[in-house]
Amino acid sequence: MPQPHIRNFGFGPMLLQIGAFLATIFLSYKDMFIPPNQLAPTRQDAGRVVTALRAAGEQTRLRALALLTEGELAVGELAQALGQSQPRVSRHLKLLTEAGLVERAPEGAWVFYRLPRSRTTERHLADAALAMLDPNDPVLARDTERLNAIRSARDEAAAEYFERNAADWNRVRALHLPEADIESAILGAAGAGPFDLMVDVGVGQGRMIQLFADRVRRAEGFDTSRQMLAIARASLDDLKAKAALRFGDAYAPPVDAGSADLVTIHQVLHFLSDPKRAVAEAARLLKRDGRLLIVDFAPHHLEFLREEHAHRRLGFSDEEIREWCADARVGDVAVETLAPKEHEALTVKIWSGNRL
Ligand SMILES: C[S@@+](CC[C@H](N)C(=O)[O-])C[C@H]1O[C@@H](n2cnc3c(N)ncnc32)[C@H](O)[C@@H]1O
Repeated sequence: MPQPHIRNFGFGPMLLQIGAFLATIFLSYKDMFIPPNQLAPTRQDAGRVVTALRAAGEQTRLRALALLTEGELAVGELAQALGQSQPRVSRHLKLLTEAGLVERAPEGAWVFYRLPRSRTTERHLADAALAMLDPNDPVLARDTERLNAIRSARDEAAAEYFERNAADWNRVRALHLPEADIESAILGAAGAGPFDLMVDVGVGQGRMIQLFADRVRRAEGFDTSRQMLAIARASLDDLKAKAALRFGDAYAPPVDAGSADLVTIHQVLHFLSDPKRAVAEAARLLKRDGRLLIVDFAPHHLEFLREEHAHRRLGFSDEEIREWCADARVGDVAVETLAPKEHEALTVKIWSGNRL
């Protein structure tokens, strides 16, 4: 992919401005004059700051940092979004990682990259540089467009998987999980209710709604798979007075914000290309003090779930979910861990918290 002509797109001058800005910060550092809220919570030695400045001061790397504000991304995803080869992007990422500007999170055969979670000097530096970028800059806009296309393609592949496997889904579930144990833990984590409105994100065949049927006055479930919805309609037939099912996307829920007492996301996040955004959207549906329940896998190594069952993420860490919840204003997150029995391979996690 040819590089864009810098002057035409205005990215180069912006890069120079950023360089000048960062250099000013560095010089100010030397003069012991760094406004504390602009750069670092703690002052670092010059060598470390210069390494970070150098790493950020290059067009592709700055574009990669800008893409990572959209959430964690695998190398292949970044390479496609940047329109560059994977080895080349890997080299840039190595430099960014060594400079502390990004964090590396290996997961099975994939490696995800993300901006540092803690407010390190480097994170402040990255934020300062990124805040100066015009989001309408054509180069950045094109990167984002490509990233959105990659994400849509991945989500479509997951949707196709469910269209093909809808009827089999209960069997697939039974392969991995001790369902009865998990369901009683889910009820325990949600609390007794009663809940005025429950919303189930990625309702599938409607199992969560069935489970909560006698604790909710009304339930709404939505899903992007029409096949799944058709099965859910049949299996929830006796609940149709209180349960509504519809087509809808976790990224744009077809439910009013601030309307639900309980929102559940059961075994959906690991299929999504942007799980953080789905958590934020789910939290938006909650009333104040409403309860969010996320059920998914702990980090694991079953790569075949990616290849054969459309999983994108091989589980989630508590830290990651807690961070997404905090960003979505869901606090007091409790974690329940349901370790596998002898012949089962996956640990199930229940994360629950209240909307602040
Ligand atoms: C593993 S099934 C779980 C279904 C249900 N939550 C359960 O536990 O029985 C995952 C479901 O998420 C749905 N899904 C995947 N991506 C989605 C999206 N972006 N928005 C809404 N639903 C989605 C799939 O169609 C599928 O029904």
